[in-house]
Amino acid sequence: MATVLILGATSDIGIAIAQKFAEEKNSVQLACRYPSSIANLASDIRIRYQQDCEVYAFDAMDFKSHQQFYKELSPKPDIVVCVFGYMTENEKAVENFEETIKTINTNYTGAVSILNIIGQDFSERKSGAIAGISSVAGERGRQSNYIYGSSKAGFTAYLSGLRNSLYKNNIHVLTVLPGFVYTKMTEHLDLPKLLTAQPSEVATAVYEGIRKKKNVIYVKWFWRWIMYIIKAIPESIFKRKNL
Ligand SMILES: NC(=O)c1ccc[n+]([C@@H]2O[C@H](COP(=O)([O-])OP(=O)(O)OC[C@H]3O[C@@H](n4cnc5c(N)ncnc54)[C@H](OP(=O)(O)O)[C@@H]3O)[C@@H](O)[C@H]2O)c1
Repeated sequence: MATVLILGATSDIGIAIAQKFAEEKNSVQLACRYPSSIANLASDIRIRYQQDCEVYAFDAMDFKSHQQFYKELSPKPDIVVCVFGYMTENEKAVENFEETIKTINTNYTGAVSILNIIGQDFSERKSGAIAGISSVAGERGRQSNYIYGSSKAGFTAYLSGLRNSLYKNNIHVLTVLPGFVYTKMTEHLDLPKLLTAQPSEVATAVYEGIRKKKNVIYVKWFWRWIMYIIKAIPESIFKRKNL
């Protein structure tokens, strides 16, 4: 069975992914900013699922630490799920450039920094799978969310290039576009029930996406069609919409 590294393991989606992989008899490495906050999940994985579970300190924005972080992982993972992310209100990010920087440096630069390192190791080993949790918000910029959306657009493009680059070395790269999910990140939003997934549904989709070597997945199937329509609207009309 495989060793799975979860980058951003305190996230609601990350916790569900860790549990899913443990349930499927994989050992799990949990990486997050505050390791003590995830001690219960680690014990749960060891006791309930009888799987090895180690916790590592990892800060996506501390780029200089990423080489050392990866060096210290033992064993090296077979599967990596990059799930950390940051979203604030668009207005706040526009008014306060620090918030914009934080959004970009978490969702894009931080992910690129660590996945460049992991991609190189996987290339040398000629095996491995990487899943990145991006967002449908990256598929078209909207006035309500374009700072977060553009950082995820960059991440989606990065994952596409990484897949293209690593394919020849037998490495699988999965892009996950979850649509709305009930988590801490969205708890202040009034989400439409029908369109919103639970973290456990994202976890199953990620697990199956890796198992079936999918390239790009939407967690709920209809999001593919929603985004197809949204992307088809001409810019001359789209700019007039209050989206
Ligand atoms: N919820 C949705 O509707 C939705 C939709 C599409 C995509 N997503 C994406 O799904 C992923 C998981 O988010 P979530 O919905 O599960 O929300 P969440 O529970 O708020 O998780 C966000 C996670 O990112 C971590 N994080 C933030 N900055 C970090 C940094 N500098 N270094 C390391 N970790 C950092 C946080 O860790 P701390 O515990 O240290 O704060 C937290 O665990 C994100 O990439 C998000 O953009 C979510």
